[in-house]
Formats: sequence, C-alpha cells, structure tokens
Amino acid sequence: MKTILSGLKPTGEMTIGNYIGAMKHWPLTQGKGNKTIFFVPNAHALTARQDPKEIRKRTLDLAAWLLTVGIDPKESTILIQSMVSAHSELFWILDNYVTMGELNRMTQFKDKSKKLGPEGQLVGLYSYPVLMAADILLYDSNEVPVGEDQIQHVELTRDIANRFNKLYGDTFVLPKATVPKYGARIMSLDEPSVKMSKSDHPDSYIALGEDKDSVIKKFKRAVTDSDSVVSYDKAAKPAISNLIEIYIGFTDKSIEEVEVLYEGKRYGEFKQDLGIIVSDKLAELQHKFEDYRADEASLIEILEQGSAKARQIADKKIIEVKSKIGLL
Ligand code: TYM
Repeated sequence: MKTILSGLKPTGEMTIGNYIGAMKHWPLTQGKGNKTIFFVPNAHALTARQDPKEIRKRTLDLAAWLLTVGIDPKESTILIQSMVSAHSELFWILDNYVTMGELNRMTQFKDKSKKLGPEGQLVGLYSYPVLMAADILLYDSNEVPVGEDQIQHVELTRDIANRFNKLYGDTFVLPKATVPKYGARIMSLDEPSVKMSKSDHPDSYIALGEDKDSVIKKFKRAVTDSDSVVSYDKAAKPAISNLIEIYIGFTDKSIEEVEVLYEGKRYGEFKQDLGIIVSDKLAELQHKFEDYRADEASLIEILEQGSAKARQIADKKIIEVKSKIGLL
C-alpha cells in the first residue's frame, strides 16, 4: 500500500497550470489500495501579508476545488493544515535538521524573495520548505504528485528524512515527487520562457474561475513561434509546445494525435479550438465548484472530519519523533 499526499496553497487564484500539473492527476490515485491525503496548506499562505478574510475564503475555495476535481472524502483524507497542529510542531523540530545553506539553494525562495522586496525577508518564507517537509513526513507519504517547481522541495524533504533516520533510526518514509510526463511546467501565455503563475499579470495565465470570452481571447492573444506548423518541439518551438501541452492536459489526447489533427492547419485555428476546449471544461468544473462552495456548512463538516482523521495519524508520528529526540 502506498501513501500519496499533495496540497494546494491558498494564495491568489488557481490557474490551469495547477490543474494540469497537479490537481487533475490526484483523483486517479484514489482506490487501488492507496492511502490518499489531500490538503490545503493554509499556514503556508502566511508567508506574504494577506487579508485574514481572504485566507479563510481561499482556503474554503480550494477545499471546494479538491471536491470539484474528484477527490472523494470517502476515499481520501481531506484536511486543512491549520486544523492539525502536528504540522507546526514537526516543522519546528525539523528546522533543526536543515541548514541555511540548503534553504539558500531553494530556487522558489530565491525568486520570491527577490520579487517581494522587504517582505521577501520574512523567516517564514525562508523556512517554508521545512513546513512542507513536515506536511509530507507526518503521514509516511511515499509519493507526492506535484508540478516541476515543487520537485526541489520534495528532494529536500527526502534529505531531511534521511538525516533524521540516520541519527535516530527509521522514523520517516523517504518520499518521492511524481510529476506528469507532459504539463509539469505550464508556461506563461505571453512569455513561454517563464512558468505560468497566478502572481503574474492576468494576460499571462488562465484562472480556473475564468469565463468563456476571456479564456478564448487570451488564447487568441497567446504568443506563438515564428513558423506556423502545429507540432511539438519544446526547445525550438516553446510557445506552441506549451499550448499543445495545455491541449492534451484538457483532452487526454496524445501529442501525435494533436499533430495529426492539425496537420496543414494554422496556429489561429488551433488556438481558437483550444480556447473552446478549455473554456467548456472550465465551465463544467465551475458549475460543480459553485455547488460545493454554496454549502459552506457541509464543506466545513468534511474538513473537520478529514482533519480529525489526519490528527490520529499525525499525533502518533509526533509522539514517536518527540520520544526519539528526548522531548517529554
Ligand atoms: P502551489 O499551491 O503553488 O501549487 C499547487 C500545485 O500546482 C503545481 N503548479 C504547476 N504545475 C504545472 N505548471 C504550472 N505552471 C504550475 N504552477 C503550479 C505545483 O507544482 C503544485 O504541485 N508548496 C506547495 C504547496 C504544499 C505542498 C505541501 C505540496 C505545501 N505543502 C506538501 C505537496 C506536499 C505549493 O506552493 O504549491
């Protein structure tokens, strides 16, 4: 039996990058004898100043998105990080098993701290990967399905776990990141050399809550490469290759099938079709999302039950860790 765990941070809007790179794969891991845990790491949102009302709202939004994409509370444990205090407890302990040198190498920290200016100096932003390590290690996770930008954090988690196990004997399972073959790094629509991100300007990304006209317009405006053949070649044709990855992320067609489908056709036609495919699927998801989100009491009930289940596993792990390191 494998334990599979992943999460979504409630900062900014969710994009189709989050969906294709991570979320859409999660429901497929359910059943099959796996233990599956999905959660909203809301304490991770504190690393940048935000309106408390917004954090609360977005946390519930993301929980509703988990249900929307098909995470089933009967099959999976759905939890909120702040409802399971063992996450913060293990975080502090693990902080003492990781070096500043290791955290200095985290590319996400380097990028974010530069962009954020004085706020980028917060210690929480710096040690963010250690809280993530706690999230993963508390549950003996074997696999962490994520997009490419999180691989480095999962590798650090593995190093921390390994170091701890060597000192105190087997305590943590060594996790590994699993990333999809295509779509693990969806790029910006107007700058295909940078990752699509909700913190960039709106023309660069498509939010999961976006309406049809806006989606179609954005794909129409999306940059393309200098030739006009719809074919996949990430190095030579990064823009169309990114759009093809989005296309297959929303249709489950293969690259070859898309290339055959658009043989002899121009970028304009491909982008028009892509806009329709993505906006139709988003409309279907948005509809489900609204239903889950409308009933906040039931949503909170699911989260409380899931978090209570999670506490049983996490508290046991904390007791084991504390006893190993001599904390009463
Ligand atoms: P977050 O919330 O930024 O992103 C959620 C997931 O979406 C993936 N992703 C992308 N995939 C492909 N293309 C993109 N442009 C793109 N943008 C985002 C991310 O790789 C991620 O899998 N630190 C995590 C949250 C977290 C976590 C954890 C994840 C906290 N604790 C424990 C796994 C396990 C984060 O910020 O993801």
